[in-house]
Amino acid sequence: MNNTYKKTIENAYNITKPLKDQGELATYIPELANINPSKFGVHMTKIDGTNFGFGDHLEKFSIQSIAKVLSLALAVKFLGERIWTRIDVEPSGTKFDSLLLLETYKGIPRNPFVNSGAIVICDILMSHLEDARKEFLEFVRELSDIPDLQYSDKIADSEKATGYRNVALCNFIKSFGNIKNEPADVLDFYFDMCSLEMNCQQLAHTFSFLANGGRKFDGTKIISSSQSKRINALMLTCGFYDESGEFAFKVGLPGKSGVGGGIVALYPNNYTIAVWSPKLNKNGNSFKGMKLLEDVTTHSEMSIF
Ligand code: DON
Repeated sequence: MNNTYKKTIENAYNITKPLKDQGELATYIPELANINPSKFGVHMTKIDGTNFGFGDHLEKFSIQSIAKVLSLALAVKFLGERIWTRIDVEPSGTKFDSLLLLETYKGIPRNPFVNSGAIVICDILMSHLEDARKEFLEFVRELSDIPDLQYSDKIADSEKATGYRNVALCNFIKSFGNIKNEPADVLDFYFDMCSLEMNCQQLAHTFSFLANGGRKFDGTKIISSSQSKRINALMLTCGFYDESGEFAFKVGLPGKSGVGGGIVALYPNNYTIAVWSPKLNKNGNSFKGMKLLEDVTTHSEMSIF
């Protein structure tokens, strides 16, 4: 089976690599505009721990919104179901940084993966943890088995200097009473969270607990299997913003994208896969990443459906 997957992924990589990207780098975060747009890598980690990759799979990139899944996992671990009074679990049908539905739903974000929802999760973590910034980093260090993982000040500072929409989102939510801490502090934590850097191998490893009923490969329990199922359900329905339906339609796996060009997807009880190609389509998702994953599930004929 491993060899079959390896061949399928190698083929998908070779077919996707020469495609001309119909997309652009995320230039609204100046630091992300400096990335070589031709980078392309993929890595798969099977539930038995075997793993393999192709292309630039060992080169680090900014994971951006992919980190929102990890902050959600930490919030769920500590607070359980209580968080769902502050954030909904519905697809938004809007761009990741949209303000539109916050007015309609009185400051309750549609889900934890749009920026507004992830900002509320940051606020919740800050209210309930002594030092959310530190404890979140320790949590990701444990998941990733990268003991010296650090926030990237360069990327966080670059986003802090230009993140006007996120400032607007946070203040707007605060006006409805759904942000409890100081908006500037919540945003600092949010930008730091998005600044984490990993390569495809590390990302696939980090997410393996969600393919394994909430447990790391070594058996360490991170969250319950029911909580893991729910996070996967949210990745399927909301992981790609206004393109979540299309991702379910064409790929058929829970997944999450980031504007650094990364995507992580997983097949429960089977594998996690991380892909990186920096040019984004109009919905803010990696153009080649989406194409590669579509090819993988089409040719392996394995999706959760
Ligand atoms: O808040 C932002 O705009 C970024 N830090 C994260 C956005 C993102 O990755 C959206 N994903 N496709």
